[in-house]
Amino acid sequence: MRIGIAGAGYVGLSTGVAFASMGHDVTVVDIDRAKIDRLAAGHAPFYEPELDELLSRALQKRTIRFTDRLAQTAREVDLVFIAVGTPAKEDGEADLSALWAVAGALGRSGAAPKTAVIKSTVPVGTGDLVEERLRSLSRAPWRVVSNPEFLREGSALRDFFHPDRIIVGASPPEAAAGLRQLYSGIDAPFLVMPRRAAEMVKYASNAFLAAKISFINQIGDLCERTGVDVTQVSLAMGLDARIGEAFLRAGLGWGGSCFPKDTAALIRQFEQQGIEPSILRAVSDVNRSRRRRFLELARSCLGGFRSARIALWGASFKPGTDDLREAPSLEIIERLLQEGAEVRVCDPAAGEKIAAAFDVETAADPLAAADGADAVLLATEWDLFLQVDLAELKARMRRPLLIDGRNAFDPGRVRRHGIAYAALGRPGP
Ligand code: UGA
Repeated sequence: MRIGIAGAGYVGLSTGVAFASMGHDVTVVDIDRAKIDRLAAGHAPFYEPELDELLSRALQKRTIRFTDRLAQTAREVDLVFIAVGTPAKEDGEADLSALWAVAGALGRSGAAPKTAVIKSTVPVGTGDLVEERLRSLSRAPWRVVSNPEFLREGSALRDFFHPDRIIVGASPPEAAAGLRQLYSGIDAPFLVMPRRAAEMVKYASNAFLAAKISFINQIGDLCERTGVDVTQVSLAMGLDARIGEAFLRAGLGWGGSCFPKDTAALIRQFEQQGIEPSILRAVSDVNRSRRRRFLELARSCLGGFRSARIALWGASFKPGTDDLREAPSLEIIERLLQEGAEVRVCDPAAGEKIAAAFDVETAADPLAAADGADAVLLATEWDLFLQVDLAELKARMRRPLLIDGRNAFDPGRVRRHGIAYAALGRPGP
């Protein structure tokens, strides 16, 4: 099929490259001319496993092209995906300005009526409004379908080809026919539901995962006080098939471009309907408190940060990405500096970005970061850190102390090497 994708960001580009590698004819559109030129030359603007190879193969086979001409693209394709960003405004509400710009351009494009597929995460009911806008601008019966995405950063392409489910919100259901054909090569349950239901599924799924993490983090607070190791509790709870082991790792909590923005936008939708989002507020409050509690723990272990030398291991919001959006490390670095610590950061992907944003040293090697330090603070559980030689670590530090923000180390092993250990959700050092 011939498809157009508006938005060459994380979702749009990963989706476009994936469809192109399935043999569809894909045109990705973006307003950023420089980005388009780099993509046409085979350079992706962010790191994602497999993306570069699939992009260059699709360019060679000419199954993908990049342009800034949305109206022309709309006239040439069978389906147009909308995959632009919907960041949070100050009050949490989703900012839909990019979406409305695309809808306006499509409506005025003069394209014969076709289907617009919304992949961006949008508040429930937005599909109805976009359909009205397209129809009023074009005076033609455009259809709008919702097709939320569940890709994770760091495994976007694997998630695309092996999804747990494909959700299509189509009112009427016949409007899903094009997408059924498009996804026919992918083996996953294909659920067609009313458009608003599909929009809700995306928010509810992300909020549920965020809630699972906040839940175990709150249990972790009690574990810490009562001499229980929260990781043993997670393990045992996760073996109950009804609960499941995923997203039960306690620690510094969730960040990134999705959970914080989507939880905030969902809270706003509740407020707009006059319903108190009590669970969601607690989920968000518990998450915010993680960073504070982690700093309190570190402060109490060190007796304050003034003149302390701190090695911060990990800065990206999770391993496998250089994305710093809403990363707990940002607040941690800021506080440490404010309270007079000397900070050296090691992150295999986000080091340069951190060096540009803060007055800190960076080190490529975790041991070099820990040289002469009073404490190592683990903020992101990259494998690189878990493989560090602990005997060498102890020898390099001024005061051997590891504060584990991700419950990623085995406390017994760390302590056997003569390194003091503290973590959120585990009995004290
Ligand atoms: C998330 C969802 O997992 C995707 O399904 C969704 O498509 C995406 O948001 C989106 O809406 O676009 P992502 O933001 O890439 O994907 O990150 P996750 O892998 O879900 O991790 C989210 C955060 O939770 C990270 O900060 C991670 O460190 C934290 N986390 C995860 C925990 O603190 N504990 C856990 O047990 C698991």
